[in-house]
Amino acid sequence: MSQPNKQPTWNPGQYLKFAGQRMRPALDLLNQVDAEAPSVVYDLGCGPGNVTPFLMGRWPEARHIGVDSSDQMLEKARAEHPTGEWVKADAKTWAPEAPAELIYSNAALQWVDGHADLFPRLMDQLAPGGVLAVQMPHNHAAPSHMGMREVVEAGPWRDKLLLVMREFPVGDPEVYYDLIAPKAANLNLWETTYAQIMEGDNPIAEWTKGSALKPLLDALTDPDENAEFFDTYSKAMQAAYPKQSDGKTIFHFRRLFIVAKK
Ligand SMILES: C[S@@+](CC[C@H](N)C(=O)[O-])C[C@H]1O[C@@H](n2cnc3c(N)ncnc32)[C@H](O)[C@@H]1O
Repeated sequence: MSQPNKQPTWNPGQYLKFAGQRMRPALDLLNQVDAEAPSVVYDLGCGPGNVTPFLMGRWPEARHIGVDSSDQMLEKARAEHPTGEWVKADAKTWAPEAPAELIYSNAALQWVDGHADLFPRLMDQLAPGGVLAVQMPHNHAAPSHMGMREVVEAGPWRDKLLLVMREFPVGDPEVYYDLIAPKAANLNLWETTYAQIMEGDNPIAEWTKGSALKPLLDALTDPDENAEFFDTYSKAMQAAYPKQSDGKTIFHFRRLFIVAKK
């Protein structure tokens, strides 16, 4: 049982704990964007503005507009990057002020359901020659995510959490090819599995605490139950991802990249 798109409240601090690891795919995506001098750069699902310095550095003459549905994230972005423009909107229904020359979106659209509508719609928001550049985790078959479902289903929190647990909306590259290719002059699709080297005692659970685990933790309002759930999931992750001889952990993380030019 799952419910459509319950928006978690975001915690910029937890998300930024792994800023370096989370930034790498953002830059790998940016490196593939072929856009000379867009007058406006949209960062869809901009979060706390992590990618903003890189977008501003690449296109210093452009207006930079970050779009996000979270007040907490926008507040942090606005404080850190006062020269950017920060807009609250839902990516599902958002439209640019005018047909866009560049829509960049890193690690955000996996939170939006209905990709069969969303992606053609975003392509329709582009000006001729405009670029849509998207990176999303495609890691739902990994132990980090499969284990989350197992812990949910096996515990006393089952009924509560199955209500907020989402079906992961990210599909294979073939899915996006069919959605985007009819509207694109050029389409670049690829996947990368990062072998992330993680430090600390409980790195996988600490990582997902800032992303996929967050809506589940938010739903467990009783502090004891919340702690027990996190502890159970943490132990499952420690067993699924054994440490290297020096105490570090390798976290394989697969991501899907899309760069489409209209
Ligand atoms: C994992 S963070 C990514 C932030 C940033 N793009 C980065 O690369 O660090 C995901 C962001 O997507 C935003 N988000 C989730 N659902 C959204 C929606 N429907 N519309 C707009 N933003 C959304 C969240 O508020 C959050 O800031």
